[in-house]
Amino acid sequence: ERLSLWGGRFAGGPSAALARLSKSTHFDWRLAPQDVAGSRAHARVLHAAGLLDDDELAGMLDALDRLATDVASGVFVAADDDEDVHTALERGLIERAGPELGGKLRAGRSRNDQIATLVRMFLREQSRVLAGHVLDVVDALIDQAEAHPAAPMPGRTHLQHAQPVLLAHHLLAHAWPLLRDVDRWIDWDARAARSPYGSGALAGSSLGLDPAAVAADLGFEGPVENSIDGTASRDVVAEFAFVAAMVGIDLSRFAEEIIVWNTKEFGFVRLDDAFSTGSSIMPQKKNPDIAELARGKAGRVIGDLTGLLATLKGLPLAYNRDLQEDKEPVFDQVDTLDALLPAFAGMVATMTFDTDRMAELAPQGFSLATDIAEWLVRDGVPFRVAHEVAGACVRVCEERGIELWDLSDDDLAAISEHLTPEVRAVLTVEGSLASRDAVGGTAPARVAEQLQAAKERSAEF
Ligand code: ARG
Repeated sequence: ERLSLWGGRFAGGPSAALARLSKSTHFDWRLAPQDVAGSRAHARVLHAAGLLDDDELAGMLDALDRLATDVASGVFVAADDDEDVHTALERGLIERAGPELGGKLRAGRSRNDQIATLVRMFLREQSRVLAGHVLDVVDALIDQAEAHPAAPMPGRTHLQHAQPVLLAHHLLAHAWPLLRDVDRWIDWDARAARSPYGSGALAGSSLGLDPAAVAADLGFEGPVENSIDGTASRDVVAEFAFVAAMVGIDLSRFAEEIIVWNTKEFGFVRLDDAFSTGSSIMPQKKNPDIAELARGKAGRVIGDLTGLLATLKGLPLAYNRDLQEDKEPVFDQVDTLDALLPAFAGMVATMTFDTDRMAELAPQGFSLATDIAEWLVRDGVPFRVAHEVAGACVRVCEERGIELWDLSDDDLAAISEHLTPEVRAVLTVEGSLASRDAVGGTAPARVAEQLQAAKERSAEF
């Protein structure tokens, strides 16, 4: 006969249609290790409260150990009519400890406080794994930056040439957001580190069970302050999902650049064969699939976040079954990022840059015009005038199809009396880069300092 957790007041079992809708073992089974750990901790507080004697505690823990072994080996699996992981494991416990002892464990806890706790345990663990993968991407960026300490490239705004920057500076601009994502998961953990176990269905337990003891047992900083909040809130899950989505977005922005850089027209980057794919029909093709998948998966992990947020909006306190929908989105994010990040790190670590091509393009598109304006300002010319003069230089060049450094001394003098031949000092990429030497700027010395700082930051975690 089917074992249900709530048979008493019901005349019969659930309809097949309800059972199918309600079932969650196909996704919450992965929480079985956390569920068993929660059960061990719960058994200990039942014992401390005098609700299990010494022998019963020993028998319970032994049965839970055997259950954990059988779960790990696959000997014990969820049955077709187990509603969720908690139901299945209670069945497994009763099979091992007998109905008398096995039936005692459920006192003072509810699946509502259980699931809220298990999700936090799972996500806290995963946040560390994923943060480690993110740091591998960061380290690949740092290594590439370190390998190209002086290579210039065209810096862009609006995808148009703007000002020359160092390739290392640009690569590190992708490392910092990822370092902040790791920071976010660490900050998040302080809020996730409170255990809902002991909240019961919503109102807390009347059995003298100590939520702080369970919390400590399960690696939490302490119990939640409010049992209703403990069972009903999922902002901790949503915040995890935001960080995961942000990681997806940060990778996607770099991915988009890699895809563009990898075109014939740009020709900035070459991807390693092991991290690119071919075409089934076009023999010449080598495609940046990892970058494209990163861009695609970003949409997916954003969807996971927004789906979860939509589930939460409008839910009255306390637990509602809608909350069962909190798990698949974050599980999907975890699995998606777990597959994506190592591939992405490998792609970044092995890509090679055509630094000659990048250097050649760095000064084109009049990207040194700002340098003329700022040279004039250093000479005492008001910026408004300097901007006009530099703009006039660009106009003349455009009309004649030449670059700024092609302007003759006479051309310069004709544009403005302030434009003496000395301006040519800043009409080189090297001069331009070196001049941007304030903290955070693209001057090689500053980028070297920045690289050091990024390395230290990455090593701190
Ligand atoms: N499977 C549920 C969830 O994932 C937990 C069970 C709570 N169900 C209930 N009817 N109180 O949220």
